[in-house]
Amino acid sequence: LTVMLCKANAVRCTLFCPLSPQGGKLWGGRFVGDTDPVMEKFNASIAFDQRMWDADIRGSKAYVRALEKAKLVTTDEMTRILQGMDQLSEEWSKGIFVIQPGDEDIHTANERRLKELIGEAAGKLHTGRSRNDQVVTDMRLWMRDAISTVTENALQLISTMVERAAAEIDVLFPGYTHMQRAQPIRWSHWILSHAVALSRDVDCLQEIKRRVNVLPLGSGAIAGTPFDIDRELLQKELGFDAISLNSMDATGQRDFVVEFLFWASLCLTHLSKMAEDLMLYSTKEFSFITLSDAYSTGSSLMPQKKNADSLELIRSKAGRVFGRCAGFMMTLKGLPSSYNKDLQEDKEAMFDCYDTVHAVLQVTSGVMSTLKINQSVMEAALSPDMLATDLAYYLVRKGVPFREAHGISGKAVFTAESKNITLNQLTVEDLSAISPLFGSDVSSVWNYRSSVEQYSAPGGTAKSSVTAQVEHLRNWLKKQAQ
Ligand SMILES: *[C@@H]1O[C@H](CO)[C@@H](O)[C@H](O)[C@H]1NC(C)=O
Ligand SMILES: *[C@@H]1O[C@H](CO)[C@@H](O)[C@H](O)[C@H]1NC(C)=O
Repeated sequence: LTVMLCKANAVRCTLFCPLSPQGGKLWGGRFVGDTDPVMEKFNASIAFDQRMWDADIRGSKAYVRALEKAKLVTTDEMTRILQGMDQLSEEWSKGIFVIQPGDEDIHTANERRLKELIGEAAGKLHTGRSRNDQVVTDMRLWMRDAISTVTENALQLISTMVERAAAEIDVLFPGYTHMQRAQPIRWSHWILSHAVALSRDVDCLQEIKRRVNVLPLGSGAIAGTPFDIDRELLQKELGFDAISLNSMDATGQRDFVVEFLFWASLCLTHLSKMAEDLMLYSTKEFSFITLSDAYSTGSSLMPQKKNADSLELIRSKAGRVFGRCAGFMMTLKGLPSSYNKDLQEDKEAMFDCYDTVHAVLQVTSGVMSTLKINQSVMEAALSPDMLATDLAYYLVRKGVPFREAHGISGKAVFTAESKNITLNQLTVEDLSAISPLFGSDVSSVWNYRSSVEQYSAPGGTAKSSVTAQVEHLRNWLKKQAQ
C-alpha cells in the first residue's frame, strides 16, 4: 500500500515515505493509513500560523533550557538545539525557510527543520511538552508584541488628536444631539470626545495585556508535566508576569483571544462613530472639513466627486472585527473541557483583528493629521435658535425656576417663528411681552463665544475646560510613554 501511495503522490512521498506512512508528523506512531489530501489541507494551519515563527522559536529556546536543568538533555544537546534554533530564526527572517508539504503547523515545521539541521537530538525538544501548551504559549508571546504595537498606534492617534484640539481651540461649530442642531461647542471639544474614548481603549488594552502575559508552558496536553520542568525558569526566560495556575485551564481556554477581539470591536466601534461624523462634516451640505487627497478618491463616473473612502473603510471595519469576535465566541460555546481542534479558529480571528485594527489606527492618524477645517463655514453654521437654552438660563439667573424659564424661552422661539425672524431679531418689546424679566441686557445672550464660555465646569466646552482636558490627556500620554 505504501508503495502504491508513493507512486500516486510522488511529492509527498519523497518527504513521508522514508520516515513512515505518516511522514514527519508529531503524532505519526500509531497511524498506518494516509490522510485524505483534502483533509490534510483542511487540518493544516501552517498557512497562517507561520506568523508565529519567532514566538515558537523563543518558546522552544526557553524550553530546552528547562530540559537541560531537568537533565533531560545534556548541555551539549542543549547547545546544539539552541544553535539550530538560531539558524531557523535566521532562515525565517531572511525569508528562505522552505515550508514542506508535511509541515502541518509552525511547530511541526520548526521541529522538522531542526532535525534536518542538528539530527536526532532535535527529537528531545518536545519531551514533556504538547502542542497544546506550546501553541498557546506562542500565541500569548505573539499577542504581547501585537498589543505593544497597537498601543503605540493608538497613542500616536490620540496624540495627533490632542495636539489638533490644542491648535484649533478657538474654533466654534454646532454640536448635534439626535443629529439635530443642539448647542454651540468648540471643535476641539468634539475632537477630544473621541480622544477620551480612545484613551479608555488604551487603558483597557493594558488590562488585557496583564492577563495575556501568563505562562502556559509546562502544562503539557492536559495534566501538567511529569518531569522536573522549572516553570519559574520558563517564566523568567520568556518575560511572563505570572504562571498559569491550572494545566487544564491553561491549555483549554482562549479568554485572552476573546478579550482582544472584543477590545478591537469596541475600539473600532469608537472609530466608526468618529468616521461617521467626519463623513457628514465633509459633505457639500456641511463643508466643515476637507479630507486630504491622500485619504480620498475620485469617482470613475462623476468628475466632480471626492469620496471619503478612508472614512468609509474605517467605519466598515468595526463590522468585520465584531464578526470575528462573535464567530469565535460561537466556536467556544459548549466546547468540552481542555484542548479541542476547534480552538484552531483562534488564530485567523486574532491575526485578522490585529491586522485590521493596526491599519485602521494608522489610517485614522493620517486622516486626522491632514484634514483641513473651514472655520468660517463652521461658525456661520451656528444659528440663534441654538441659543434658546441660553435665553432660558438668562431668566434662571434672574431667579426663574428652570422649568418655567424653559417654557418662556419656548414661547420666544414660537413668536420668532410666527414672525418669520430669527430668535435674536426679537425686540426687547417682543420679549418683555412674553416675560417682564427680559431687559435690554438680553442682547448679551446672542453671542456664541460667551455662550460656550458659560460651560466652564470640568468637562465642559469653555476654553478653560477644554484646555484642562488637553492638559489631562497630554499628561496621560506622557505616563503611557514611560
Ligand atoms: C471656506 O469656505 C468658504 C465658502 O465656501 C470659501 O469661500 C473659503 O475660501 C473657505 N476657506 C478656506 C480656508 O478654505
Ligand atoms: C421668511 O423670510 C424669508 C427671508 O428672511 C423670506 O424669503 C420668506 O419668503 C419668508 N417667508 C414667509 C412665509 O414670509
